[in-house]
Amino acid sequence: MHNHQQQQQHLGIIDSLLMQMFGRPQGILGRLGGFILARTKRDFTQWVIDLLEIQPDDKVLEVGFGPGVGIEILAAAVSTGYIAGVDYSKEMVEQAKARNAKAMETGLVQLQYGSVEKLPFADHTFDKALAINSMQVWTDAMAGLRSIRRVMKVGGKIALGFTPHSGQSSTGLTEMFTTAGFTEAHLVETDRGFCVLAIN
Ligand SMILES: C[S@@+](CC[C@H](N)C(=O)[O-])C[C@H]1O[C@@H](n2cnc3c(N)ncnc32)[C@H](O)[C@@H]1O
Repeated sequence: MHNHQQQQQHLGIIDSLLMQMFGRPQGILGRLGGFILARTKRDFTQWVIDLLEIQPDDKVLEVGFGPGVGIEILAAAVSTGYIAGVDYSKEMVEQAKARNAKAMETGLVQLQYGSVEKLPFADHTFDKALAINSMQVWTDAMAGLRSIRRVMKVGGKIALGFTPHSGQSSTGLTEMFTTAGFTEAHLVETDRGFCVLAIN
């Protein structure tokens, strides 16, 4: 086999292992990926949530919540509103439910398995929406953005954050939000990563 072909094959295997660990976590690797995400992404997640200026009565949606650290931070900021989450990994739904068991019992938090393109919520439900290191693995990013927009209130605020090794480029991102129908899309950057903020 040529070197180039071998390299391609290795990349294919690495990509598929990374997908199992972090992209759409599954099995033992997925479980491990969840623990790693929970330990390493808390500060970045807090930064993205701060940008959303969460109010106690906000109804908030997180797509691709992974191990549920963002949900935990949101649950401490919301009291009379509520937090809903959808993730396309059964393993992550289990980890996030375990992490947020108390807030789920009181009804403050609702987490479910599902994909961003088919969000099980009525139109104009949420004041705020976020996703962290998730859009780069959605099958159809534009369909995902339009779907989130559908369930957001008019005037609601969205934040999509990405860390440096997420695989998501910041080029053309604000334009994607505008194409999906959002307004005031702009990029905010720190040394930990970047975030697109926009208004519905
Ligand atoms: C890299 S992880 C990030 C998890 C978490 N937000 C964090 O920052 O630690 C990507 C997450 O997006 C979820 N995901 C992938 N495709 C999705 C889809 N189509 N709809 C909803 N969630 C999806 C994965 O299951 C995974 O939990």
